[in-house]
This record gives sequence, structure tokens and C-alpha cells, in this order.
Amino acid sequence: MKGVGEMRKVIIDSDPGIDDSLALLYALKSPEIDVVAICVVAGNVPVEIGVKNVYYCLDLVNRRDIPVYLGATEPLVVPFVSAQDTHGFDGLGECHLAQATIVTPQEQRAAEFYAQTFAHPQEISVIALGPLTNIAQALDLNVNLGLNMQRFVSMGGAYLSHGNCSPVAEYNYWCDPDAAKIVYEKLGCPIEMVGLDVTRKIVLTPNLLQYSQYLNPQMGEILAKITQFYFDFHWQQEHVLGCVINDPLAVAYFIHTQLCSGFDSYVIIENQGVSRGQSLVDAHDFWRKPANAKILTQVDSTAFFVEFLAIVLDVPHEVIAQDMKNLKLGE
Ligand code: BDR
Ligand code: CA
Repeated sequence: MKGVGEMRKVIIDSDPGIDDSLALLYALKSPEIDVVAICVVAGNVPVEIGVKNVYYCLDLVNRRDIPVYLGATEPLVVPFVSAQDTHGFDGLGECHLAQATIVTPQEQRAAEFYAQTFAHPQEISVIALGPLTNIAQALDLNVNLGLNMQRFVSMGGAYLSHGNCSPVAEYNYWCDPDAAKIVYEKLGCPIEMVGLDVTRKIVLTPNLLQYSQYLNPQMGEILAKITQFYFDFHWQQEHVLGCVINDPLAVAYFIHTQLCSGFDSYVIIENQGVSRGQSLVDAHDFWRKPANAKILTQVDSTAFFVEFLAIVLDVPHEVIAQDMKNLKLGE
């Protein structure tokens, strides 16, 4: 059991999802954070599939004590479009590992849970790994939501990078552009935007995967089963050898902010037309508006993989750091 005393408390909002599941496993195993709740939102997969995958991850690390809240089943306005082409019908790369998982979510829905939790100032942060529908709904119930949370980290958006579901839009903000727009306009605390500019540099390569299997055959095998579909998708779609694991970077950055750097800016999310879901970053201050977000642009991907693999595979950081150097695994 982790020593809860000095750990920072987080609520993870998620739509698992292959990379969400990796992020959950990493967060649950990290000695630096205490995951106090997990909320599920429609995104990569419908919520009822996402919740199964959350419990699959909880079972892997023996943490059924963590409450799970079901959230929005569809975006606020636009029709729901899942990313099952990317993550598989079961959201876990069609490995069917979570098929028989029993789910026991809370009765309260995610939006109410957020609204109630952040009715008063809390030393709790939120890391959102999916569309921002739950957060937008919670803001509707409690306008002080952002003021009462410690930090808000969102995997989503793209500044200079191209999008991954349109030329300009990243999936989480594209899936529910109205929610993302509301959250950027109204949250009231800085949004730490872990977008495609940095996550595209987080590629789990075949070498890293093989290495993981040597270091920890049981966990390495699970990683391999879950990511095969994602590998295939990346090859066919983007000619990338390996897969981009976006969501674990948001968690790693939350814990170790020095992994990434960027700048503060005012950001709006477009919710209509061909640029639906685009994160418009006023980097040159045309609009003279106070910054509402921190845009990450640089990441130390080798340091990320040392941290991520060390925690997920239960291997000392020094071992991984040395191997990554000797075997040139980060290149
Ligand atoms: C984001 O969209 C989803 O497909 C991933 O889980 C990640 O959160 C990347 O655009
Ligand atoms: Ca996700």
C-alpha cells in the first residue's frame, strides 16, 4: 500500500481507451499521488465499456476501494462519435481482457460528485484524459468548481501540431467541442493543456515494448496485448512505428511538472464548422485577454519513459535510465 500521507490527491476523468488505461495503471501505482476517485465519460468508447476498463485496471492493482462515477453518455450538443476505430470495440485494443469484469459504480453521477466535492476549497486536483463533458456539466451545477480545486490538467488540444481527427482538432476537444469551450471560458483556474504538441513525442516503440516484456513479463504482456491494435492503427493511419500514448504524459506531467515546459496564454475552443474542436491559442496576445491556460510545447520524452516504465513495471528508475542510454531506447 502506498504511504498516503504526502501524496497529492487527484480525481481522474477518463474514457478508457488504450492510453487512458495505461495512464490509470501508472497513476494507481505511482507513490506520489492518491487517486481518490475515477469518473468515466463517453469518448473513446461508450461509458458502459469505459467503466469496465476502469475496473479492469483497478483489479490489476487491487484497488477496488477507489470509487468510480459514471458520467456523461454523450457530448453536450453534437452527436456522440466514439474512437473505437482507434482503440478497438472494447476500448482495450480488442484484447477482451476486461470482458468478464464486474462493475460496481457509485449511484451518484460524475457531475454531481464534482459539484459536491468542490463546493468548498479542496486540496484535490483533476486530471482529465477524455472529452470535458463531465467537467462542463459540473460547472453548470457549481460555478466555483475551478476555484475550489488545486490544479486542472487536461489532455487535449493542439497548438502548432496538426490534429488527430481533423487538420486542426485533437479528439478530446473535437468529440465534445461545446464542453471544451465552456470549460476554457468558465473554469476559473488555469488549464494545463497537455496537447498533441507534446504527446505526439511520446511514442511507445516496438523496442520499448519488447524491453518491458523482458523486465516484467506479466505486465509487459498486458501492455503488449492492449497496445497491438493501437500499433496497427498508428502504422496504417500515420505511418508511425509504435503508438502515441497521450494520456500517461498528462499524469506524469502532473507529478513531475519539469518533464514539460510551455507558456501561459489565452485560449478559446472553436465549436463549429471545419475548425470544430480547435484550440485557438492567442500566443501573440492579439486579444489582450488574461491567460486561462498553460500550453505545453516541450517534453523530455526519455525522462517520461524512465518514469512511466519504472512505475508500471516495478523496476528502479536507475535501471531503466541506464538501459535507455546503453540500448539507445529513447531514440
Ligand atoms: C486523446 O484522444 C483519445 O483517443 C486518447 O485517449 C487521448 O485522450 C488523444 O487525442
Ligand atoms: Ca483519453
